[in-house]
Amino acid sequence: MKPKDLKPPFKWGEQYTTIQDKIFYTFEPFGKETLHFEFPGWDHPDVFGNDQPVKIEYCSGHGHWIAHQALTDPEVNWVAVEKLFVRLRKIWSKMKNYSLNNLFSVCGEAYDITKRYIPSASVTEVYVNFPDPWPKKKHAKYRLIQPAFIEEIYRILKPEGTITLVTDDENYSIQMMEVLNSQPGFISCYPEPYFCTSREGYGNSFFEDLWREKGKGIRYLLYQKVEVTYDL
Ligand SMILES: C[S@@+](CC[C@H](N)C(=O)[O-])C[C@H]1O[C@@H](n2cnc3c(N)ncnc32)[C@H](O)[C@@H]1O
Repeated sequence: MKPKDLKPPFKWGEQYTTIQDKIFYTFEPFGKETLHFEFPGWDHPDVFGNDQPVKIEYCSGHGHWIAHQALTDPEVNWVAVEKLFVRLRKIWSKMKNYSLNNLFSVCGEAYDITKRYIPSASVTEVYVNFPDPWPKKKHAKYRLIQPAFIEEIYRILKPEGTITLVTDDENYSIQMMEVLNSQPGFISCYPEPYFCTSREGYGNSFFEDLWREKGKGIRYLLYQKVEVTYDL
């Protein structure tokens, strides 16, 4: 199957929110299907149809990393989240060509789809590999890793669930650490300086290969969800 073989169930301009062929199309509320759409849950037959652990990768791009995970770790249900349809259909073609029944893709914006659809305490691990760095200071507000998004990640993770963040952008990694270190619900699994520069057996993404080839340094951050207790 080629990426262009993926035909969405609607005409462009008339899109709505629906799940078809392991793709969750999430769109602004154009019609009443969207307004009333409720995510049916990970174990629904249109999603995974079983109760294996769920791991999500946000900003999946062409899906190299997550397709490899789904192939080599079939006892996990993998979810790719990518906002661009042109990229998402490349993930879909990998799913088809490798018969990855444990890979489900969401076409939508990471924060929005998490807040609207992902059930609380339902995910064991979250990954964000090379999110867009928005390097200019005036664009930093567009970065995905912000307190509101991390609060949503805290909500969807199961107890002791983890989030891994990978970036080649030093400045963005500092923002990531600031956001996570100031969230009492997370602790860093790495001691100060709170990142490492390689992670054995992590797998490769398109951007990871590109930046390593260019000799760029890469930072891996790993945080775990912890119970928040308040002193009275
Ligand atoms: C730099 S690429 C990295 C792709 C892949 N993770 C890799 O390492 O090769 C960032 C990807 O994130 C997607 N993206 C950026 N912001 C997003 C958001 N808020 N929600 C969903 N996807 C997003 C972009 O469309 C792009 O495909």
